Amino acid sequence: MASSMQTYLLPVLLSVIHLINITSASEHHHHHHNHHHQDQIKSLHFSLFQHETINKTGYIIVNGVAGPGVSQTTTPFGTLFAFQDPMTVTANPSSKAVGIAEGTSITSSLDGLRSISIAKITLRLKNHQGSISIVGGTHNVKRSDHPVVGGTGDFIFVQGYITSSPVDLKGLTVTYKIEFHLYWPPYAAQASLS
Ligand SMILES: *[C@@H]1O[C@H](CO)[C@@H](O)[C@H](O)[C@H]1NC(C)=O
Repeated sequence: MASSMQTYLLPVLLSVIHLINITSASEHHHHHHNHHHQDQIKSLHFSLFQHETINKTGYIIVNGVAGPGVSQTTTPFGTLFAFQDPMTVTANPSSKAVGIAEGTSITSSLDGLRSISIAKITLRLKNHQGSISIVGGTHNVKRSDHPVVGGTGDFIFVQGYITSSPVDLKGLTVTYKIEFHLYWPPYAAQASLS
């Protein structure tokens, strides 16, 4: 009886400790450039702007089969799209580029507005170089969250999410604001030292 109580309590204690760590990280997230302590999760929050120009940085590779035609906001169901888009520090496409988003998306809703996207985002920030990989559902005219599934370089083991919101959907180049919310688990520090 006692031993079954212990095996029950240990996961509970661990999840309480986990919650405390998350709480302390959210209180200290403005210290994100500081070297973190063992009990704090390092995090980084910033925004970039992704610019996609049809037939220049983004192309339809396979035509879709049903639903609305191709426009700035819709593509037929099943459309396979590939892109290599610059990411800049302001919404102005000629502002400094510090990232590249390479990926593909497949139109996944019959109204032509949603797709499943996978992308590798290479970042050259002042203190962080490397890439993050994201996967998730994108809505062409609404904000959408995409889980971060991992990273390389200074972003190795990174978790979190990015939020994509349309800024300018008119003309040949469409612009999306991409907000990054990145969290390093404690073991990422050990990995980067080795
Ligand atoms: C992009 O290229 C495709 C294939 O050549 C063409 O059908 C389409 O009209 C082009 N789109 C624009 C906006 O130029």
